[in-house]
Amino acid sequence: MIDKLEYTNKHELIFLDQSLLPLKEKYLKTKNYKDIVEAIKALRIRGAPLIGIAAAYGVVMGVHHYNTENRKNFQIHFYKVIESFRNSRPTARNLFYALERMTKVFEENLEAEFNDLEDLLLREADAIFDEDVEMCNRIGVNGADLLGEKSTVLTHCNAGELATGGIGTALGIIYTAKKQGKDVLVYADETRPLLQGARLTTYELGANGIEHDLIIDSMAANLMKEQQIDCVIIGADRIASNGDVVNKVGSYSLAVNCAFHKIPFYVAAPGTTIDFDTETGDKIEIEERDADEITQVRGEKITGSNVNVMNPAFDLVPNNLVTAIVTEYKVHYPPYNFGRLKQMFQSYIQTLPSRNDDD
Ligand code: MRU
Repeated sequence: MIDKLEYTNKHELIFLDQSLLPLKEKYLKTKNYKDIVEAIKALRIRGAPLIGIAAAYGVVMGVHHYNTENRKNFQIHFYKVIESFRNSRPTARNLFYALERMTKVFEENLEAEFNDLEDLLLREADAIFDEDVEMCNRIGVNGADLLGEKSTVLTHCNAGELATGGIGTALGIIYTAKKQGKDVLVYADETRPLLQGARLTTYELGANGIEHDLIIDSMAANLMKEQQIDCVIIGADRIASNGDVVNKVGSYSLAVNCAFHKIPFYVAAPGTTIDFDTETGDKIEIEERDADEITQVRGEKITGSNVNVMNPAFDLVPNNLVTAIVTEYKVHYPPYNFGRLKQMFQSYIQTLPSRNDDD
């Protein structure tokens, strides 16, 4: 397993700078929560679940390294830390889920000794991390059932080990299928403009011994036409309660192409990615990123000046284009109604319902 992030007993976070991969495997170390905010904005730490985990530890760090005996100032500081993480990336549901859990622990223990409160916050961050590892494993098992003995899977962006606490969501399914003895070939979309597919997915598929070919994004439709793709599996940044999916820009065109070519389009994500309070995908904020990500390549301008740019990080796949959503609970089919999973998350109960419960 790739070491992507570790919170040490010195209250510092050590993390792999994913913006440099695969050319440099560089670990950064910090005791300052603001560096974690910056790392999330700059995609050094990325992928919805990993962003949530990093932010949870960032909150613990922000509390630990703040010196005050004054309760009022302490509270003001806590909410300031939470707010700076909330403003780091708007789309990843897991980020907000993690911050809600940390805030709940804080508010329920306002009267506790500083040290005790800090311990409780650390325990919560550890739990968010551990639960994500477990959710990935379960998604892997649930999703592997969708793959035949020999499959060709196309994936977009990076929804693997590097994006989560565990083995990943979309890629977790592939690793699990491979472990079960299935034969899987992966086509990895390069994923313009930041090349998470080319840089990260190929890196981790290679590290895990999965056969793969890198393709440019615009090649996917033709591969489908030539019947070289059995299914598409992607992750999600946020899923509305009706099953509309927001994921890395380019996901929508893959879904349209799948519908046209009658190829299953699967989404793999934990319950922590589902925004149960948002009914439809059009209500989800899509992050707009800096124009430089498109007008520059490795710091060098490739366009003339004054070029207008649209650079949304994600797009919306309407639920009618989604064949199934794989969660840690089960494989959900349309019409999407996350029933028991929704109840569980809304009441913060961390035990999974049985698969036999009604959805
Ligand atoms: O901008 P990124 O690299 O953070 O985007 C990541 C994705 O779009 C992933 O598919 C999503 O977060 C799911 S990761 C399990």
